Amino acid sequence: MQPHHIRDVLLTEEQIRRRIDELVHELAGSCCGDNVVLIGILRGSFMFLADLVRGLYRQGARPRIDFITLESYGVGTASSGTVRMTKDVGEEIAGADVLVVDDILDTGRTLRFAQLALLEKGARTVRTCVLLDKPARRVAPFQADYVGFTIADRFVVGYGLDYDSHYRELPYIACVTFAPGAARA
Ligand code: IMP
Ligand code: MG
Repeated sequence: MQPHHIRDVLLTEEQIRRRIDELVHELAGSCCGDNVVLIGILRGSFMFLADLVRGLYRQGARPRIDFITLESYGVGTASSGTVRMTKDVGEEIAGADVLVVDDILDTGRTLRFAQLALLEKGARTVRTCVLLDKPARRVAPFQADYVGFTIADRFVVGYGLDYDSHYRELPYIACVTFAPGAARA
């Protein structure tokens, strides 16, 4: 038997599409400047960023796009709190208005690290946008500027989010059920 399986679609393709349309309208004003850089956090943000960018294009935005890779080291199910950047930005961001895009805001450590690191590189503004927010898991106060959906403390996959490097390809968000004794990533 698999130690885990996908159960319960939490957010359908249609729900995600509609919410992204709304987010695009919320973001349009601030993403239409001439020095805007969207920075996705790999790998979870790739699908969300691609859909956001196409929506923003239709609103007239012409941002530069870049990615960073952040990794946090955890013990068991808890992240250790140590975040490090394993792939840095390639674009010049000094003076730019940056929008950091991630799949999910959980403890808050990743986005807080990203925001501080990008401000240190001289970005004029750094705002944050996540598809999902799990406020129950926050270890330090952090609020994203734009949130797609606020969800309960469930482990979710799909639409870029993985469990053990699987399920990122799902066009919807689903919950993972863990068999007794199976580790939660
Ligand atoms: P934070 O630093 O705890 O906020 O971590 C955010 C990162 O943890 C996200 O970018 C995801 O990679 C990962 N993560 C947190 N919750 C989930 C989940 O439910 N499913 C898949 N990945 C998750
Ligand atoms: Mg991630």
